[in-house]
Amino acid sequence: MKIGLLGVGHLAEYLVRGARGVDFVLGPRSADKAARLAATYGCAVADSNQAVVDQCEMVLVCLPAADGLAILQGLRFRAGQSVCSVMAGARIDALRAAVAPAAAFCSMMPGFANAFSAGPSLIYPGDAAWEQFLARLGPVHRFDKVDAFETAAVFGAMSGASIFLLRHLARWYEGQGLDAVTARRLVAETFRGNAEVLLQADAGLDDIVRGVTTPGGITEQLVATLEARGALAAWDSAMNTVLARMSPERG
Ligand SMILES: NC(=O)c1ccc[n+]([C@@H]2O[C@H](COP(=O)([O-])OP(=O)(O)OC[C@H]3O[C@@H](n4cnc5c(N)ncnc54)[C@H](OP(=O)(O)O)[C@@H]3O)[C@@H](O)[C@H]2O)c1
Repeated sequence: MKIGLLGVGHLAEYLVRGARGVDFVLGPRSADKAARLAATYGCAVADSNQAVVDQCEMVLVCLPAADGLAILQGLRFRAGQSVCSVMAGARIDALRAAVAPAAAFCSMMPGFANAFSAGPSLIYPGDAAWEQFLARLGPVHRFDKVDAFETAAVFGAMSGASIFLLRHLARWYEGQGLDAVTARRLVAETFRGNAEVLLQADAGLDDIVRGVTTPGGITEQLVATLEARGALAAWDSAMNTVLARMSPERG
């Protein structure tokens, strides 16, 4: 599998790390990073963005969300090519227009977790070749309806924000005197364990919540304090603001 990468920044590096066995052709900008990825993972580096497009049937777009579409509009694509954008907020119709006559697909993923092949990816619409690529980076969720894809794609922000939450909690333990390694592991292991509960337990979410909440106990106390400060409800309004950016007519 050979894939051209436009935009060799943070996400591109995570994907190159995670998708072993793929022949990546990198754009030349961010020359230091491209050279390092070439040396470490055997990627090729093309002379220009257009040279990436000319050499590859499949092109993955990891450009800045703000001007990625304009950059694509300046490139020539051909029929039979397949372009997948991971740019937050880039919508399928605008992407199709920018890369015509190539086929266009939208994806979203957490990023860093994909370097460990542990991050879920979304794809809209479904495509066997892109799904095969994304499967190297973690579980793949295919969407047939654009509204559902754009709703699910809010998880790109949810994922990043969850890292802030994990850091915040680790810092609390450190502030109370725990060493940094123990604090980090404790937080990570707790969330990983609870993620396994959601993935493996047959019980519904409400039953799981009941099972871990002793009446009058410390979970009840912590959640009541958070809810009194609107901490959980704040996630709804924050997620709504991101959805409004992804899908303005629904925001
Ligand atoms: N980071 C994540 O975990 C993550 C996860 C999911 C989706 N995304 C999406 O992935 C995209 C990239 O995010 P990122 O965090 O990787 O950003 P980033 O680190 O800033 O990477 C963007 C890269 O694109 C390069 N670039 C800018 N203009 C270019 C051009 N005209 N031609 C070729 N390359 C150009 C930048 O080079 P310079 O530095 O020289 O400007 C930079 O290396 C965004 O659209 C974001 O929404 C990111």
